[in-house]
Order: sequence, then structure tokens, then C-alpha cells
Amino acid sequence: MDKARIAVLVSGGGTNLQALINAQNKGIISSGQIALVISNNPNAFALKRAAKAGIPTAVITKSELGSQQAFEERIKKELQSYQIDLIVLAGFMSILSKNFTADFPERIVNVHPSLIPAFCGKGYYGLRVHEEALKYGVTVTGATVHFVNEIPDGGRIILQKAVKIKEGDTPEILQKRVMKQAEWKILPEAVEQVSKKLMNNRKVVLR
Ligand code: GAR
Repeated sequence: MDKARIAVLVSGGGTNLQALINAQNKGIISSGQIALVISNNPNAFALKRAAKAGIPTAVITKSELGSQQAFEERIKKELQSYQIDLIVLAGFMSILSKNFTADFPERIVNVHPSLIPAFCGKGYYGLRVHEEALKYGVTVTGATVHFVNEIPDGGRIILQKAVKIKEGDTPEILQKRVMKQAEWKILPEAVEQVSKKLMNNRKVVLR
């Protein structure tokens, strides 16, 4: 069967990328195949994870290209040359403009470490999300996988999973629990779901 060709965009540690690689190896992801990893940070450990799994990588930085537009055009070029069907933002810490997202309607998914619409939008990323959840005093948080559109964290929700906050939690402890109990599970599940749908509908517009 034809598989959806997936590009994973990363910036940091890449534990979510690792979860996707593991899911692919275990057959949890069977309708898609990770064909490319793009990082906007040359020092991202995620690049090492990709290399170890034999996945081609590209480093594209905004500072080198000078503008958001040039940065996004360069990413688009790379996606085209790898005939990518589905883009996964897995800890990608750069907001993509409408110029980019409009080209890939329901073709970009993102994992966010809270239950959207709480603690999301511009400025809410990484550890900051968990700091704000603890500051607010919520007793339940979680993770969300959603489609990406021009509104930061505003696209249609695909999957969510709740995670309990415990007494004594620090942002770091909570971040780890949210990853382990939610992100590393729902991201591969959502990627399989979307890949399967894409292949069934054969709406492969990028190829
Ligand atoms: C993850 O918790 C991811 O949900 C979050 O950054 C972390 C990246 O970790 N993403 C965002 O906050 C996006 N708004 P990883 O590099 O180990 O996957």
C-alpha cells in the first residue's frame, strides 16, 4: 500500500519525533512513513535521533535566510523535493505564517502540551505552558494534537488526552508526565489517523 510521506519539523530534544519513529517501527503508524526531518536549530538533538533512524535531515534557519518569507519558501522547497504529503510539527518553536499554512490545509498537524483552548496561542510553548498551568492552579492539564492554520494553536482538534496535576509538581515534572502520558501516545495515533485518511482519499495534492 502507498504510504503518506511525512516531514517532521523540530527545534529541540525531539522526544516526540522519537515517539513517531518508535510508533513507525512498531507498526502503530502503518499508513505513513517519516521521509524527512527539518530543524530550525542546527544543535537540536532531534537531528541526531533522525540520523540514527536513517531519516534524511535538513537544517533551515531564519537567521541565515534573513526573513520569515525566505525561511518558509526554503521549507516549502525542501518539502516539495521530498514529495511530502503530511507535515508534523513536533516541538517546532517557530510560528508559521498564513503564507505557509494556507498552502497546506489540513496537511499540517501540531502537538501542544495543554488542553486547548487553555494555555495556548502566541508565547505559549515548551515549559512556559506548564508554568502557566501550575500558576493558574488547574488540577487537570494534558495535550492536544490539532491541524495547523493561520491562528496559533487554533486549527481543528484531532485528539486530546487529559493528565492529572499532582501536589509538588514543578514545570519540569509536569512536562515529563504530560509527554509520557499524553503527547507520545496521541501524536502517533493522530498521525496514523490523518495518514490513513489521506491515503484513502488519495487527495495527494503535493505530489
Ligand atoms: C513538547 O512538549 C511539545 O508539545 C512542545 O514542546 C515540547 C517539545 O519536546 N511544543 C510546543 O509547546 C508547541 N507550542 P520534544 O522536542 O522533546 O518533542
